[in-house]
Amino acid sequence: MSEAAPGPGGAFDAVLVVDFGAQYAQLIARRVRECEVYSEIVPAAVTAAEVAARRPAGVILSGGPASVHVEGAPTLDPAIYDLGVPILGICYGAQLIAEQLGGSVGPNERGEYGRAEMTVAGDGGTLLAGLPSPQPVWMSHFDAIAEPPPGATVTAATEASPVAAFENPERGLFGVQFHPEVEHTAHGHDVMERFLRWACRAGPSWSMHSIIDAAVTSVQNQVGDGRAICGLSGGVDSAVAAALAHKAIGARLTCVLVDTGLLREGEADQVEETFGRHFGVDLVRLDAAAEFFSALEGVTEPEAKRKVVGEQFIRAFERARNRVPDAAFLVQGTLYPDVIESGATTHSSTIKSHHNVGGLPDDLDFELVEPLRALFKDEVRAVGAELGLPDEIVHRQPFPGPGLAVRIIGEVTPEAADTLRHADAIVRSELRAAGLEREIWQSFAVLPDIRTVGVMGDERTYGRPVVIRAVTSSDAMTADWARLPHDVLEAMSSRVIAEVPGVNRVAYDITSKPPATIEWE
Ligand code: XMP
Repeated sequence: MSEAAPGPGGAFDAVLVVDFGAQYAQLIARRVRECEVYSEIVPAAVTAAEVAARRPAGVILSGGPASVHVEGAPTLDPAIYDLGVPILGICYGAQLIAEQLGGSVGPNERGEYGRAEMTVAGDGGTLLAGLPSPQPVWMSHFDAIAEPPPGATVTAATEASPVAAFENPERGLFGVQFHPEVEHTAHGHDVMERFLRWACRAGPSWSMHSIIDAAVTSVQNQVGDGRAICGLSGGVDSAVAAALAHKAIGARLTCVLVDTGLLREGEADQVEETFGRHFGVDLVRLDAAAEFFSALEGVTEPEAKRKVVGEQFIRAFERARNRVPDAAFLVQGTLYPDVIESGATTHSSTIKSHHNVGGLPDDLDFELVEPLRALFKDEVRAVGAELGLPDEIVHRQPFPGPGLAVRIIGEVTPEAADTLRHADAIVRSELRAAGLEREIWQSFAVLPDIRTVGVMGDERTYGRPVVIRAVTSSDAMTADWARLPHDVLEAMSSRVIAEVPGVNRVAYDITSKPPATIEWE
C-alpha cells in the first residue's frame, strides 16, 4: 500500500480512512481534509504491516454494511489495533471495534435512521467534552453496540443506542455510532477535529499553500530537467494541472489546445487568453475544426460520432506533439476519485485513456504526470483559484470530452454546431445572471434532429427546436432535473427564439437520471 499512496507521501501527517462502504469513506476523507489534515482511503483488506509502513497519524474506520453479524461482513486486521495508532470507528466501524475487542453488538429492535437526540454522558471524554447535551446527530444503523470493549467508557447515548459513543484514550480507541461526517450532525466537525488534533496530534497542515508546494515539488522531482506537454480542454481539471505544472517547470511545459470546432462559445479564446497571455505558457493552438467536421460528415450514430471525434483528437494531438519532439512527460488532470474508482493503487506509467483530453491512445509513449492525483474536486477548484485562474474556469460546469458533438442529435455540421453553441451560450448566461450557476451541476442546450411548424410574425416557420437540460447532482451518477424558476426559463426561451436563427421552439427536459442520462447523444 505504501507505493499506492496517491499523494504527497511523507510531507504530511496522514490519516487513513478504511473503506467499509465507499460513499461514506469518501465523505469522511473530505471532512478530514477540511480539518486541514491529509487523508487517504485504503481498502478494508489493508494489513497491519501496510498501515505501519505508512506511519499514519490516525486511522478512521468508515460506516458500511448493515451489521457486523452478516455473513461475509468485512473485518479489520486485528493487529492494527496494536500498532499504537489512534483509531476512530464510525457507525459500522464503531461496531466492528466493539465486536473485535471484546465488547458486544446486539440487534436493535427497530434500527435508528435519521435525526436523533444524543445525550452526553459524564464529562463527554476527548470527543464530546463541553459540547451541548442533548445535541442532534445523524444515525443510520440497524444493530447497536450493547457493550463497548473492556476499558472503554461510554460517553453518549440516544434512546435507541445505549452506546452512541465510547472511548479508551489510553489505548487510542474511539467509536461513534452516529455519523460525524454528515451535515445534519450539528457538532460533527468538532468531533472530527478533536479526534484529529487531540487524539492523533495531527495538523493543521493540509492547507492550500502546502498542497501547492507539495505538488510543485513532486512535479519538479518527477520531470527533472525534462520537457512536458499538457492537453488543455477548457475544463477545470486540465487547467489546474497545467497551471501547477507551469509553476513547477515553467518554460519546459508546452500546452496544447485543440480547437475542435465543438467547444463552447469563447472557450478556446479564453484558454488562450488565460494561459498564453496571462500566465505566459508556451501554448500551441491547433485549429482543427475543418478536419473534425469533414470526418463527421454523414455520421449520425452516437458511438460512431464519439469514435470519429476521438480519432481526430489523437491526430491533432500528434501534430501538436511534433512541435515538441523531446517532450517525454504528459501532464494529466486525474483526480483522487478517478484513482479510487479505477481501483488503481500504483502510479501507472502507461498512458490511460482520459476523457478530459479526448482519450489518447496506448502507444503514445509518455510518462504520466498527475499533479491532482491526491485531490478532490473542491480542492482542485481551490488550488486553481489560489494559482490565479479566472472564476470562469475554476467554477466551470463539467463538459463532455467530445464536446457539442454529443449534444447535436443527427449529423454534426458546422451550421448545427454554430446554432447549438449560440443557444448554449444564452442558456448559460441566463443561468449565471440568475445567480444559479453554482447550484446547478450542468445546464446546457441540446439540438434534436427534428423540425416543427411554427409561426413568427405572419410567416409560417419550419425550424428546429432547442431542448434545455439543467440538472442537479453531486457526482453525475444520478441527477435530478433542476426546478428552475419559470422566469429564468422564460428568459432563456425568448432569447433563444429571438437570437438564434432557425430555432422556433424551446422545450425543457424534466427527466431525472436514471432513467435518462444527463447528456442526450
Ligand atoms: P451521462 O450523459 O452519462 O453523463 O449522464 C454523465 C457525466 O459525464 C459527462 N460525459 C462525459 N465527459 N467525456 C467526458 O469527459 C465524455 O465522453 C462524456 N460523456 C458524458 C456528462 O457531461 C456528465 O457530466
